[in-house]
Amino acid sequence: MKINLNSPKYLVISLCIFISVFFVNNINSAEGGPCKDYGECDEFKYSLNDVESLQRGASTYINYCYGCHSLKYSRWNRVAEDLQIPEDIFFENLVFDKSIKPGDLMVGAMSEESVNWFGVAPPDLTLVSRYKGDDWIYSYLRAYYEDSSKQYGVNNLVYPGTAMPNVLLSLQGNQRLVCKDVPVIARNGGEKRDVSGNTIYQEKCGFLKVEDGTGKLSKEEFDDLIYDLTNFLVYVGEPIKATRERIGWYVVFYFLIFTALSSLLYREYHKDYNK
Ligand code: HEC
Repeated sequence: MKINLNSPKYLVISLCIFISVFFVNNINSAEGGPCKDYGECDEFKYSLNDVESLQRGASTYINYCYGCHSLKYSRWNRVAEDLQIPEDIFFENLVFDKSIKPGDLMVGAMSEESVNWFGVAPPDLTLVSRYKGDDWIYSYLRAYYEDSSKQYGVNNLVYPGTAMPNVLLSLQGNQRLVCKDVPVIARNGGEKRDVSGNTIYQEKCGFLKVEDGTGKLSKEEFDDLIYDLTNFLVYVGEPIKATRERIGWYVVFYFLIFTALSSLLYREYHKDYNK
């Protein structure tokens, strides 16, 4: 078979290969851990170029999480620099231990013996977005509910029996599992109706609902807070990610232009053979 590399078919095939190689990476990173009783994890789309979101996430992390969870593979000054926070403002507002130097690793604020308080040592979270997935984290932090049978009075749908207390309870409010009447779905995917055309309802339990007025934030504000926090954990898991993705696009453009040029060149050379 004579392969004519000049034919548009080959150009299209090579384009498809470039594009699929590029997106396979995205498919992998969207794969979170299974969300157990929560069902499907909520989808999380990071935005690492949104520096303000990362700044808010870092601030929430240091105020609410850093007491238990270290980020021991990151350094304070690297985070300040990447998040475009001037070092003096960063140290004044977010670093509470004044003996810390800018180049120190973020080794956490927990003493050795307090690690035993929870039965499980709070893990380091530098790489948590890499091994659990961002969807999992985003769902986990929003899936606490009241359960008086547990040590801290709460349980979690995504991580049943978690040893972590609900540290954001005062912001989110008191979340409970409630039952709701939901339309019965027929086998064809539509709502089931009785003979007079009314939708048939059935009681289903296990829905999360926050008791009105018990939290400092509204549901949307709380979701935004967890969005920023998860976004920050994605950043910490791979600080170079935003740059890497930008360079990836340059490489794709380079290949496209290079393919076009080499195809023109090929055509030019080929003229000599066809004489
Ligand atoms: C009072 C201490 C404490 C605080 C504060 C705390 N956690 Fe935890 N966290 C834990 C413990 C203990 C575990 C281990 C739970 C287990 O495995 O049962 C954990 C587990 C986790 C996990 C799962 C990690 C894994 O590998 O399974 C994530 C994610 C997490 N915490 C995020 C956070 C975030 C985000 C914050 C701040 C909003 C936070 N934690 C605040 C104690 C804490």
